[in-house]
Amino acid sequence: MLGNIVVAYVKQAVRNSYICKIGCQETETPMTAAIDHSHPGLSGPEQSGTARDWDASLARRTKSLGGGEITAILSLAGASDVITFSGGFPDPATFPTGVLAEIATRLITQDPGVALQYAATEGIAGVRDYVAGRLGALQRRTPETGELMVTSGGIDCMELVAKSYLDTGDAVVVEAPTYLGAIMAFRGYEADVRGVPVDSDGLRTDVLADQLAAGLRPKILYTIPDFQNPTGLTMSAPRRTELVELARRYGFLIIEDVAYRDLHFEQAPPDSLWSMAPDVVLQAGTFSKIFCPGVRLGWAAGPAEVISRLVVAKQNSDQCSGALGQRMMEEYGRGGHMDRQIVASRALYMRRAALMSEALTAHMPAGTTWTTPGGGFYIWATAPDGVDTVALSAAARAQKVAYVPGRPFYPGEAGATQIRLAYSRVADELIDEGIRRVGEVLRTALEER
Ligand SMILES: Cc1ncc(COP(=O)(O)O)c(C=O)c1O
Repeated sequence: MLGNIVVAYVKQAVRNSYICKIGCQETETPMTAAIDHSHPGLSGPEQSGTARDWDASLARRTKSLGGGEITAILSLAGASDVITFSGGFPDPATFPTGVLAEIATRLITQDPGVALQYAATEGIAGVRDYVAGRLGALQRRTPETGELMVTSGGIDCMELVAKSYLDTGDAVVVEAPTYLGAIMAFRGYEADVRGVPVDSDGLRTDVLADQLAAGLRPKILYTIPDFQNPTGLTMSAPRRTELVELARRYGFLIIEDVAYRDLHFEQAPPDSLWSMAPDVVLQAGTFSKIFCPGVRLGWAAGPAEVISRLVVAKQNSDQCSGALGQRMMEEYGRGGHMDRQIVASRALYMRRAALMSEALTAHMPAGTTWTTPGGGFYIWATAPDGVDTVALSAAARAQKVAYVPGRPFYPGEAGATQIRLAYSRVADELIDEGIRRVGEVLRTALEER
C-alpha cells in the first residue's frame, strides 16, 4: 500500500502533472444528470457499464492544480518502516492527551448546547476573545471589533482570501520557495502566481521593488516571515519595514502566515507584519503546530473590511469551524497549558534541528548546502548541480527514507536539486540514520552523473 502510494507520488511529480483525486471524487457537475440511471431517457445503452472519464469533466481551474504532493505527504503519516522527513507534522508527544480528555468530557457533559452545536461563522465569541488577548500579549496589538475571526486552520484562511479576492489572471506574489498549499490555494482560483527569491534575510524586497517599478501589480503578497516553510529562514526587521512600505505604496494586501512564529528556539522573531501595519496586513495563524492539527483551527486578523468578506466566504465553505475544537482550545489556552507546552515544544524542536544539522555535516556529499533554522520544523538542503531530487525519490523510498523534493515549493521551474527535511516528528535516535540514507542516495546520484 505504502509502496503504491510513493510510486504514484513519484510518477506524478516526475511528469509534473497534478491531479487532485479528492476533488475528482467530490466534483458535482452537470454530468451527474447524464449518468443518472434512474432517468432512463438520459442513459443510453451505449453508456451502460462504460468506465467514466471523470477528469474530462473537471473544472478548468482544477485541471492544472497541484495536490499530489500533499496527499502523498499525508499518506506517509502512518508509515512505520520509513524514516519520514517529509510532512510538517508536530510530534504527537506535544499533544496534551490527558488534559484534553478531561476538558472534552467536561464540555460535552456540561455545555453540549455550545460545544456540540453550530457556531457563529466568525467563531465563538469567548474563543475570539481568548485569541485576541493572546495576540495582544504576544504581538502587542489587540484586534479591534471585527478584525478577527476563527478559521479551520491556516489553509482555510488562504482559501477564503483566494475565493473572495482573486479573479482569473490576478497576480499574487509569493516567496520562492514557499508553502505549496498556498500556491495551490491561489492557483485554485486561476491566479498568476509569481515568485520573488529569498535569502538569509527573507523575501528579497529589492527584487520585489524592481518588479513593482517595472509594472507588476499584485493584488496579494503571501509571506511566511518567521521560520519559513520550507527554508526555516526568517525575514529581518528592515525587510519587514520595506515590505510594508511597498504594500502601502502599491496597494496590495500582505498575507502574513505565522504558522511557526511561536516556535522559535533562542531568539524570538522581529515584530509581526500585522502588528506593524494592520491597515495592509492580514495575518493567517494556526493552532496546528502549537496545539494539534486534529482540531483544524486557526485565526485571521486583519482589516475589518477584509475579515467581513472572509466571513461571508466561509458561510458556504464549512460555515463555521468546529465548536468542540474551538472550546477545547480556549479552555486549554485559558488554563495556561498552551503556554507551558510551547516552551517544551521549542526545546524539543530545537534539539531535533541541532541533531539534523550535525547529521547533515556528517553525511552530506561535498558541495551540498543547507539552512540553519532559528525555529519551526524545517531544514532546506541544496545538492550540487546535476541531481534531480524528484527522480531520486524512488531511490530514497528503496532506502526507506522520505523527503519532499524542492520543485513543488516554487511557482515556476526551480528547485530540482533541493529537498525539504522536516525534523519535527522524527525520533531523536532516527535522525542520524535517516540523514545518512539521504546522503547515500545523493552521493550515488552524484557519482553516476
Ligand atoms: C506555512 C504554513 N501555513 C499553513 C499551514 C497549514 O496549516 P493548517 O493545519 O493550519 O491548515 C502549514 C502546514 O504545514 C504551513 O506550513
